[in-house]
Amino acid sequence: MATDKHIAVLPGDGIGPEIVDEGVKVIKAVGDRFNYNFHFSFNLVGGCAIDELQQPLPEDTLKQCRKADAVLLGAVGGPRWDRNPAHLRPENALLGLRKELGLYANLRPAILYPGLEGSSSLKAEVLKGVDLLVVRELTGGLYFGDKSTEQTDTGLKATDTLVYHEHEIERIVHRAFQLAQGRKKHVTSVDKANVLESSRLWRSVVERIAKEYPDIEVEHMLVDNCAMQMVRRPADFDVIVTENLFGDILSDEAAILTGSIGMLPSASLGEGTFGLYEPVHGSAPDIAGQGLANPVATILSVAMMFRHSFENEEVATIIERAVESVLASGARTADVAAAGESALSSKEMGDRIVEAI
Ligand code: NAI
Ligand code: MG
Repeated sequence: MATDKHIAVLPGDGIGPEIVDEGVKVIKAVGDRFNYNFHFSFNLVGGCAIDELQQPLPEDTLKQCRKADAVLLGAVGGPRWDRNPAHLRPENALLGLRKELGLYANLRPAILYPGLEGSSSLKAEVLKGVDLLVVRELTGGLYFGDKSTEQTDTGLKATDTLVYHEHEIERIVHRAFQLAQGRKKHVTSVDKANVLESSRLWRSVVERIAKEYPDIEVEHMLVDNCAMQMVRRPADFDVIVTENLFGDILSDEAAILTGSIGMLPSASLGEGTFGLYEPVHGSAPDIAGQGLANPVATILSVAMMFRHSFENEEVATIIERAVESVLASGARTADVAAAGESALSSKEMGDRIVEAI
């Protein structure tokens, strides 16, 4: 009997629709072979939703996400909406989705695929063996604390607050240790405990929880040092767990290790198997509508969907192997092609990966 799965698809803006098409193509290809019955709903999010409904995250989109087993998102935003007032910014939809769907754990793996060493600005010997996973806390910290701007005697004063509750730290840290058990059994907890009170709480929670995972090696690292070590000896890292802002910055830095931001997938998880899957990159307005975007980040996000939401490691691995073999055959989109090398379109790259599956 076929397994039914409901997927809410949110293509969004810019290159979003182009790359999501390739992701959906891969899901369908796998469905035929592995006896899934997929039900897709296509929904507005971000700038296109603002244009049509005057809100970045329409109620109906949220409803379809809540009903689904998993969400596939492209990207949102673009210069057209940059001057909009705060509540009409496309990025609001991302924060809204994370908060409303309880997605507190953001997983961003960075793997250097064989053959892409030359696409990075770092030396090939530094990159050899890079396979790390940034586990970023997604619904707390500076991005969600109270904010204000007020007039004072000396001019305007703007405030952001960095708040963490113990239970918020506990659940993300447990998730990181559990993920490390299926990997190289090493966790680097990143904080700024020499300065920040919230980081001191973070570190004490990590130390307490670490006792429940005696098989995992733990190390604490200050965020400024981590930013440096990630480009100095990136292959030494396994799982990196950190708070929202640090994780945002470090995972973008990790993009350099993979050759292109067009290679980096992500999963956002809460309790249970429901999850939201999206490439790490944005809507790339500079190349939108030209069929140039690298669809690999989205296709690898689809692999994560099978792993974490559909609990099908076999299919996840098949998709990842297909990407690996297509890249090994020399197929490249423009972002990772060497100068003078001919490049495939988004659609051609998607077709190659489907063939390999
Ligand atoms: P970006 O990630 O969209 O683009 C940065 C650079 O990487 C650009 O040169 C772009 O062409 C290239 N690039 C990105 N994805 C690519 C792909 N798949 N294949 C080939 N090249 C790719 O970041 P940027 O330019 O800072 O932001 C553009 C818009 O996207 C902004 O409105 C921003 O707010 C939004 N954004 C949305 C995100 C999301 O939806 N999750 C995340 C980051 C930014
Ligand atoms: Mg970012």
